[in-house]
Amino acid sequence: MKIAVAGTGYVGLVTGVCLAEIGHDVTCVDIDEKKVALMDSGKSPIYEAGLEELMQKVAAAGKIRYTTDAQAAYKDAETIFIAVGTPESEDGTANLEYVYQTATTIAESVEKDTLVVVKSTVPIGTNEIIEQFLKEHVKAGLHIEVASNPEFLAQGTAVKDTLEASRIVIGVESDWAKEKMYEIFSPFNQPIVCTNRASAEMIKYASNIFLALKVSYINEIANFCELIGADVETVAKGMSYDPRIGDKFLKAGIGFGGSCFPKDTKALFHLAKNEYDFDFKTIDSIISINNDQKVRLFYKAKDDFGNFLGKKVAILGLTFKAGTDDTRESAAYYNIDLLLEEGAEITVYDPEGIPAFEKEYGKKLKYATTIDDAIAGKDITFIMTDWADIKNYPAEQYVKLMNDANVYDGRNCYETRVMKAAGVDYYSIGRGN
Ligand code: UGA
Repeated sequence: MKIAVAGTGYVGLVTGVCLAEIGHDVTCVDIDEKKVALMDSGKSPIYEAGLEELMQKVAAAGKIRYTTDAQAAYKDAETIFIAVGTPESEDGTANLEYVYQTATTIAESVEKDTLVVVKSTVPIGTNEIIEQFLKEHVKAGLHIEVASNPEFLAQGTAVKDTLEASRIVIGVESDWAKEKMYEIFSPFNQPIVCTNRASAEMIKYASNIFLALKVSYINEIANFCELIGADVETVAKGMSYDPRIGDKFLKAGIGFGGSCFPKDTKALFHLAKNEYDFDFKTIDSIISINNDQKVRLFYKAKDDFGNFLGKKVAILGLTFKAGTDDTRESAAYYNIDLLLEEGAEITVYDPEGIPAFEKEYGKKLKYATTIDDAIAGKDITFIMTDWADIKNYPAEQYVKLMNDANVYDGRNCYETRVMKAAGVDYYSIGRGN
């Protein structure tokens, strides 16, 4: 099928490339000319395992092209996916500006019956509004409909998550749209949940928020474990043998970051409150636990050191998780801001995240290209992201290179006994330290 994809961020680009991989004829649209030229040359603008190889494969097969000419792409397509960003507004609601801009261009462009598929995470009810808008604005006589198709890919494993998805969720209001969606997605050979649009939109929020809840829950358990001398890693393992609980998303740490959980928890909370006067008590707790957890390392070190004036500090890991260059809502920002306020001298290291921090902080931070350089001569090291090179970094090196081997590990990268044996003063999350 001829498909256009609006937006080439993590979701749009990966979706477009995977739809091309299963045989569809895909045109990816973006307003950024430089990005389009880059993708045209076979390069991925984002760091995502396996993406560049797949881009080159589907390009060689003639299944994908990239363009800034949205009107031509939409006019030509049978189905248009909207995969533009829905960032968080100042008040915590989802900002739908880019979604509506795209809908406006679609309405101006289409010249035949078209299915519009909304992949961007949007508040419940938005698909309905977009459909109304499109119906009012397309040329007379054209049939246009909106389907919801929330995505469940995680950054770092986005290609795998799409090609081997646990399920495909389709929200439609007619057989016409349902048939088209099955035509698009059947080749993936994955379980399909077909429902109405509101349920599809809700599946996305309910899924992400449940995962965020698991993370906040285990973090709260971890904080309590510290008080009673229990080890949260063992507690989580002990829980995980129960198939009703499972072993996923029970890794205690410094809270969830990224562009999804923080945004989606707030978006549903505010939508429920503002539009339905509904108090989401679980979501309120998730947000509050996560806000505290993000700065837990800083406050623990502050308890230990009193203040940070003139202290030399290393930060290992800047991205919101390993395997991505994305630093949005990373705990590193929050801890660095507090440390700078207190007069610490900070050197940061990350295999992928430095450009974003350089842009944000410039000369306020020092940037190291190796872990050795980052920690050499430092008084305190904070571990923020569990990149493999950080996890595998030898414990003895902290003692050898640091001025004073104080390590605050927000990702439980090391066995406590290993750090103790090496002579490191080690604090980690929920492990009776
Ligand atoms: C998340 C979901 O996992 C995807 O299914 C969803 O499609 C995506 O949001 C989205 O809505 O677009 P992502 O934000 O890429 O994906 O990252 P996750 O792997 O879910 O991690 C989120 C945060 O939770 C990270 O900061 C991670 O470090 C943290 N986390 C995760 C923990 O602290 N502990 C865990 O056990 C798991």
